[in-house]
Amino acid sequence: MTKLPLENRVALVTGGTGGIGTAICKRLAKEGAVVIAADRHAPNVELPEGIFFHDLDVTQEDSVTKLMDSVEYNQGQIDILVNAAGIEIEKTIEDTSLDDWNRIFAVNVTGTFLVSKYALPLMRKTGAGSIINFGSYDGFIADPQLAAYCATKGAVHALTRAMACDHGPENIRVNAICPGYIDTPMLQSFFGDSGDIESLQQAVRDVHPMRRYGTPDDIAGLVNWLAGDEARYASGQLWVLDGGLTAQVQQMRL
Ligand SMILES: NC(=O)c1ccc[n+]([C@@H]2O[C@H](COP(=O)([O-])OP(=O)(O)OC[C@H]3O[C@@H](n4cnc5c(N)ncnc54)[C@H](O)[C@@H]3O)[C@@H](O)[C@H]2O)c1
Repeated sequence: MTKLPLENRVALVTGGTGGIGTAICKRLAKEGAVVIAADRHAPNVELPEGIFFHDLDVTQEDSVTKLMDSVEYNQGQIDILVNAAGIEIEKTIEDTSLDDWNRIFAVNVTGTFLVSKYALPLMRKTGAGSIINFGSYDGFIADPQLAAYCATKGAVHALTRAMACDHGPENIRVNAICPGYIDTPMLQSFFGDSGDIESLQQAVRDVHPMRRYGTPDDIAGLVNWLAGDEARYASGQLWVLDGGLTAQVQQMRL
């Protein structure tokens, strides 16, 4: 039987029961990896074969070390780490409380730091690894009312480059995927539930050169490439996946 591309690899996906995380887990499992979907929310459907749920709060060091102990005991190694857990707070800085600020940095930035820090020893066991962080196009340009979110994603971009420099010599590659609008619960919450949501959503689709949002499967395709051997020389980069949204000059819309 032909060997699958990610056979014998172990993938840990944080935010693994979220919109993007679920698609990533399914894709990596389809390519042959054993996948641990780690999230603070358990899945509400039965997971396909090859995907195992583990409870995780990325902001809590003891929750992260407990997960790593379990992975070490059960799977013995980590080859692929996807840091997809994230939250969004839709506020200007004036409306953002210090608690809001600390909470979003705790999940989006500290979470990426903590999980990566404790995954590295398990990654070294195989002499290679791929870490895929989640930035955002909001780390380069700003959407209105997402001030703290934009700041966290800029921090993830900088952290990605720094991690790539430090761990490249041990054959551990670190990249960030920077999505545009991807159709998930996070995007639906961004649109809210009042007013003419369908017209708003269509207007947003229309400003994309591709005239649509991305899907979680679009993102999972790039994760799969970055995770695998064909991306063996790809590291330290911020991969924007936004249907061309940020390629266009905004004056075209006037
Ligand atoms: N959807 C988009 O349009 C979009 C755009 C750019 C970037 N992103 C980024 O992609 C990633 C995934 O987003 P999504 O759209 O799938 O969002 P989502 O809300 O569907 O999923 C996020 C997941 O993270 C989990 N999570 C939150 N806090 C956690 C914690 N403390 N510990 C463990 N898990 C926690 C949630 O339970 C959820 O399952 C996020 O980092 C997000 O910022 C999304």
